[in-house]
Formats: sequence, C-alpha cells, structure tokens
Amino acid sequence: MANERGNVNVAVLGMGTVGQGVASLLLRQKDFWRERLGYELTLRRILEKYPDKTLDFDREGVPISADWRDVVDDPEVQIVVETMGGIEPAKTFILEALRRGKHVVTANKDLLALHGRELFAAASERGADLYFEASVAGAVPVLCALRQNLIAEPLTDVIGIVNGTTNYILTRMAAEGGEFGEILADAQKLGYAEFNPASDVEGIDAGRKAAILSMLSFNSQVTLDDVYVEGITGITREDIAFADQMGFAVKLLAVCREREGKIEARVHPALLPKGHPLAGVGDTFNAVLIKGESLGEVMLYGRGAGRFPTASAILGDVSEIARNIRFGCCGRLNQVFDRLKPVMPIDEIKTRFFLRLLLADRPGVLAQITKTLGKHEVSLDTVRQTDLKDGDAELVFITHIAREGDMRQALKEMGELEVTKEIITVLRVEGVA
Ligand code: HSE
Repeated sequence: MANERGNVNVAVLGMGTVGQGVASLLLRQKDFWRERLGYELTLRRILEKYPDKTLDFDREGVPISADWRDVVDDPEVQIVVETMGGIEPAKTFILEALRRGKHVVTANKDLLALHGRELFAAASERGADLYFEASVAGAVPVLCALRQNLIAEPLTDVIGIVNGTTNYILTRMAAEGGEFGEILADAQKLGYAEFNPASDVEGIDAGRKAAILSMLSFNSQVTLDDVYVEGITGITREDIAFADQMGFAVKLLAVCREREGKIEARVHPALLPKGHPLAGVGDTFNAVLIKGESLGEVMLYGRGAGRFPTASAILGDVSEIARNIRFGCCGRLNQVFDRLKPVMPIDEIKTRFFLRLLLADRPGVLAQITKTLGKHEVSLDTVRQTDLKDGDAELVFITHIAREGDMRQALKEMGELEVTKEIITVLRVEGVA
C-alpha cells in the first residue's frame, strides 16, 4: 500500500552512473511527479558498497548504507531499484526484496538473460511487480510495448539494433572508411566504448537483450545460452564498402522470430537494404522493429544507454509500479514463461548470404563455385567481380534464401576447391524477401 501521505518510498541499490542518475532525478523531479501523478515518489534509502563515495548530486540527507539488510528490511521501502549490475549479489538482493513483499525495478540484462525465469517466478509467487524496461534499449519503451500494448498480438519478428557501441563503430566505419580497430580505439577515447569492450563488440550484450526480447515476444523461456551470437570484430572496411556499393548497410542485429512454433534468437552483423527502416539508425542510437500478424510493423527508436536515458526508463517503471500500488493491482503484468518453445539451431535458419571470395581468375572457375552452391540448394541472386589481384579475382555474391546448414556445407566444399584462394567474408543478409 502507499503510505499514509499517499507517497511511495523507493530505495536505490548501487551508486554507479545509472544509480546516481535515478537517485538524483528522484530528488530533483519531486514536484513534477506530484503534479503529474498526484503523489510523491520519495527516495528513502541508498545502498552503496562504499558509502563514503563522493556522489555528484546532493542526496539531501537520504541515508546511505553498505549493508543491504538496512535497505531491504526497511518496512517503509516499497520499491527497490537495482542498478548494481552483474549476477551476484544483485540476484540475492532482488530475491530477498521480493520475498519481503517489495516491488523491484532492475536494468540488469546480464541477470535477466540468465535467471529471468527464476526472478519472474519469484515475483509472481508474491504478487509483486518486477519491471525491467531499461534492460533492453535504454530509454526506448520496447518492453512496455511488448508487455502491454502488443500483448494481444501474435508477433512474428522482433529485430533490433540494441547495442549503441557497435552501432557507433559501424556507423563511423561506413562514414569514414575506417578499420574496426582504429575506430574502436577512438570510441574508447571518446567514452562511447568501454575500456573492456568485449561484451559489446563480441555481441554478448546484444545477445542478452535478444534473450529478453525473445522471452517477452514469444512467451517462452530463452536464455543467453540459447542465443546464437557473433560480434563485429571481423568486419572490415572492404566488407562495408562492397555492401554499400551493392545498396546495403552493415548493422549488428538482434533477430528474434517465431516460425512454426520454433524461436529464432540470434545476434550477428548483417547486411540490410539501405531503404530498410533499421538501416538508417546511426551513431549510438537503438531501434527495434516489431512485426505482428494484425499489427503490420512498428518501429521504436531512441537512446539505448547513458545515465539519464536509462534513469528515465527506470523511473517510468517506478511510476508505473507506484500506480499499481495505489490502485492495488500489482503483479498484473507477471508472466511465468513456463512454455518451452524450441530455439532453432543456427543451421536451420533460412536467410540470404553475402559472400566475398578470392578465386583463381580463369575459365570455368565460376561454374565450379555455382555447381558447389547448387549441390547444396544455394542459388545466386547477384554476382559481382570486384577486383583483380595477382591473377586472382575477388568475387562478391548475394544468394537467394538458403538454409544456413546447407550454406555451411557449400562453404566447406568451396574452401577445398583448388580454385578457391580465400573465403574472405560470409555475412547474412536480412530485410530482403
Ligand atoms: N553497452 C551497451 C551499449 C549499453 O553499447 O548499447 C548498455 O546495455
């Protein structure tokens, strides 16, 4: 219940960049919420491992503690916001808060992508709210759309650019013709990429978000381990230049689909036709394109990271839970995800492919390549001879839709042909029927 003044008390766990954003907005926007919501959201407690840490806002005397029990055992705290990140101790704190009847808001995609089902079940058991809008695409209200507005819609495709770091790097590689390594180093200097960028550039961060999106979109348990993940570290300036010449942009995509009762959940770089709505999403922006049987297409676009965009998503969740508390309807969005639709092995997916091959430049070579592809049911859409190097020819192909397992077999056999000098690049092509 809301307390006697009708206010709702909130605690924030972890004073990192986002936690400080949430806490400072809770203090700063009090009057705004009183006007808009009709009651106050009160910052009641802060948990921080180093309580002497210098904060970059005035906490106005709100108690700060290093012991989680001070926060979670406080009967006045109704909503716990977890902004610590990582698996433990965040998982324990969230479960303990739910056990004590608190509602929880978290931005923790690492945790949800591995233990989402357990956390959702714990919230359901207690009739508590567990909201997590900021875990995917930051300020872009995609989870709210999936959990509420689109709940009646049989969704078929949810395709997103959900990692700002990689989108920034790919956007600059395309604009400047730069190589991955040099642009990554510059992005680190400018603060657009982490000191340790592995989880971003290797696609793991987007993989976690794909797991969460798949779970909500297709109402089935999907974890990071189920998601096929490839990052962007192998993308070269030549790949981007050839794609560009052929009318495509290269993007890191999270592709979540349901086809005939099976889920596709994969993250990898892909070519998108330049006219595709996701192709123009540049810099650090995120966007998610959702397709449904009756809905057609919807695209949501905005800031996927950063202190205040993330804090904004978290505070939207806090306000929504506060409203649920006041109207006595907590737990209304809980889903348990008991159904286990199979996740398709990557070999079974069907897509088009973009291939760059270095081949001997002599009569009959193309015939050998097309014969090998044809043997595995892979048919060519476009072929382009791009360059001549020391008597060899570089060819770029785009195939029609093929089964990935067949493509892999064909590539293996093409790699063994005497005429094949190098299989330079293999990328998937999305957004073309
Ligand atoms: N590192 C992420 C990104 C933001 O670059 O989009 C947090 O999920």
